[in-house]
Amino acid sequence: MTDSRATVYIETYGCQMNVSDTELMLGKLAAEGYAPVDGPEGADVILLNTCAIRDHAEQRVIGRLGELKRAMKPGSVVGVTGCMAQRLGPQLLTQASHVSMVVGPDGYRALPQLVARARAGSRSVETSFDLEEHYEDFAPQRLDRVRAWIPVQRGCDYKCTYCIVPFTRGPERSRALADAVREAEQVVADGISEVTLLGQTVNSYHDGTHDFADLLRAVGAVPGLRRLRFTSPHPNDFSDRVIAAMAEVPTVCEHVHLPLQSGSSAVLKRMLRRYTREEYLACVARLRAAIPGLAITTDVIVGFPGETEADFVETLEVVQEVGFDDAFTFKFSPRDGTPATRLPADLTVPDEVASERLNRLIAVVRAGSRQRNLGLLGQRREVLVEKAARRGDLMQARSRDFKTVLVSGDEQSLGRYLTVELTGTTGSTFTGTPVAERQALPVAR
Ligand code: SAH
Ligand code: SF4
Ligand code: F3S
Repeated sequence: MTDSRATVYIETYGCQMNVSDTELMLGKLAAEGYAPVDGPEGADVILLNTCAIRDHAEQRVIGRLGELKRAMKPGSVVGVTGCMAQRLGPQLLTQASHVSMVVGPDGYRALPQLVARARAGSRSVETSFDLEEHYEDFAPQRLDRVRAWIPVQRGCDYKCTYCIVPFTRGPERSRALADAVREAEQVVADGISEVTLLGQTVNSYHDGTHDFADLLRAVGAVPGLRRLRFTSPHPNDFSDRVIAAMAEVPTVCEHVHLPLQSGSSAVLKRMLRRYTREEYLACVARLRAAIPGLAITTDVIVGFPGETEADFVETLEVVQEVGFDDAFTFKFSPRDGTPATRLPADLTVPDEVASERLNRLIAVVRAGSRQRNLGLLGQRREVLVEKAARRGDLMQARSRDFKTVLVSGDEQSLGRYLTVELTGTTGSTFTGTPVAERQALPVAR
């Protein structure tokens, strides 16, 4: 057993899956007697749980490692976990002399031993994939009091040509439905009523017996659970069964994050996204026909090799045609070892061109969501109070259709459901005025 006064600090980069992994690591280390602290100063164990999706994400971690070298107290140990650890492995030990552990996403079971070894002065790298690993027996130490993340699938089999994730997270595997349901029941028993199911292509979930439709129905029916979300689905995995489950399970929220990446079929083909512009639009139409009021958000990459001005205009057209509620927009970042880096050099889109396209895309996305949001003023929404807003006296709440709504309130209102009227919008977020203290549980449709 470790010294019970030892402390651990984990800093998280990247996607929700990494946030969830941080919760698992904190839980594992807490079980070994480590107390979590919220800053690196004075922590005995400092872990950076990293992301490798774009070069920028990695540069931030490199910068942070430099800062930590100066700030860490004598005797504390630093580890790098997550996708960048998996990608760079032993290279990180060579590059950063103060790093003593490099642990990939499938290596967290060994964390207590690796930490103990590091504290005894030796350095180690653990980057093997484990296709059975789901960490089911870990008790996650949840960082959010209102919403819970439940990983149901790890890894990715899609292999989009720009993407590092299949290299950093390994092959896709799904966790047993009964385990996911058990975790959802635990979450509700702990007083949390909103669950987000996580996976890289979460709707391709299959545990050997059950598909994603079964999973939505089973988790969605857990007594006391009020909101069920999932991220990120792949457009090709929206079977009729999955869409029917989304439409029929009252707890499933009216929002889907549906990564587009590009609106040009030629670019999509080079990305190996496995759908055309028309197929993407058909997927949107099927979802909208089944789920009234569905909000759709997306991810778009500009400047992928070979993207012409005409291809880019097609992306703008799809963005306008769909009318996304919001979009995350990225400039293509070449990742070592991915197939996109082997495309002919003359297809490279110059950085100035990519930057200019990014700005135009952002302007179109903003104008579209602003217009949509203005149209929602005066409507009512049930919102869940999530956290304190940046402006002191307000709380940040969220509607089922994923709109951020600022409401007056204090810490006491955290985790409460309110019905509000949308009274103002900045174009992206709303202000809301409560019209009833609490709404009844959703009724079966
Ligand atoms: N599994 C999710 C995406 C995970 S990565 C999915 O398939 O939807 C999140 C987003 O980062 C992607 O949707 C993509 O838009 C972006 N992205 C991934 N690799 C990138 C790269 N090399 N350069 C720029 N953006 C990238
Ligand atoms: Fe990456 Fe594509 Fe897998 Fe998403 S589906 S994680 S973009 S390879
Ligand atoms: Fe980043 Fe890994 Fe997530 S690369 S986006 S932390 S899966």
